[in-house]
Amino acid sequence: MKIYQAKDYNDMSRKAANIISAQIIMKPDCVLGLATGSTPVGTYKQLVDWYQKGDLDFSKVKTANLDEYKGLSKDNSQSYYYFMQEHLFKHVNIKEKNTHIPDGTETDAEKAAEDYEAIISGLGGVDLQLLGIGHNGHIGFNEPSDIYPKDTHVVDLQESTIEANKRFFDSIDEVPRQAYTMGIGTIMRARKILLLVSGAEKADILYESICGPVTPSVPASILQLHPDVIIVADEAALSKMGIS
Ligand code: GLP
Repeated sequence: MKIYQAKDYNDMSRKAANIISAQIIMKPDCVLGLATGSTPVGTYKQLVDWYQKGDLDFSKVKTANLDEYKGLSKDNSQSYYYFMQEHLFKHVNIKEKNTHIPDGTETDAEKAAEDYEAIISGLGGVDLQLLGIGHNGHIGFNEPSDIYPKDTHVVDLQESTIEANKRFFDSIDEVPRQAYTMGIGTIMRARKILLLVSGAEKADILYESICGPVTPSVPASILQLHPDVIIVADEAALSKMGIS
């Protein structure tokens, strides 16, 4: 595991975008695992900027997103499909057919999960998986639990996650109660993982995830066992680690 300290959110975003750019330059047809939430927004903005300057080419890049709310259609402005269009896909030359997100409108949870695992296997696996972290240590939508879910599955969102994500909705009642997410196994099968963490409110959970025991009650702690993890975190997020 390598930890890079960034000064602040913007510096974290630039460093992360540099790592993703390097991946695209070294393997133009790479498979990127992508994340949503507020943390990667600056990274996507930087990638769009470099694309517009002619420094990046997404024409062969393939993507698989971590998760999607169950019940939200592509045109719902709170869906992760919509998020990805707004923040990255519609601004770069990625091909729509090369982008993949779990189908939130599939009501058969088993089918949705199996289909998505088949898509990822068909792509040959993920080269670089981008991750954020929830305040309870969730990655994707893998909530604290007694076990590590292996593959893509449907999950009941915890109240704390619904509370944290209500800022994106008009009211808390509109936040979906379930989501489809890559499993911990799906995430761990990625060849490289890039975890982004920003802000003092993530300092405790980052410390617990990296320095605490590996336990499914802190899902991100599993990353300690992955052979190629890069963490880019800002000073505030690293403040409990005693390394600055
Ligand atoms: C959501 C997403 C996660 C994300 C997390 C943190 O629940 N499913 O993939 O990492 O929230 O979000 P934020 O970056 O806004 O703190």
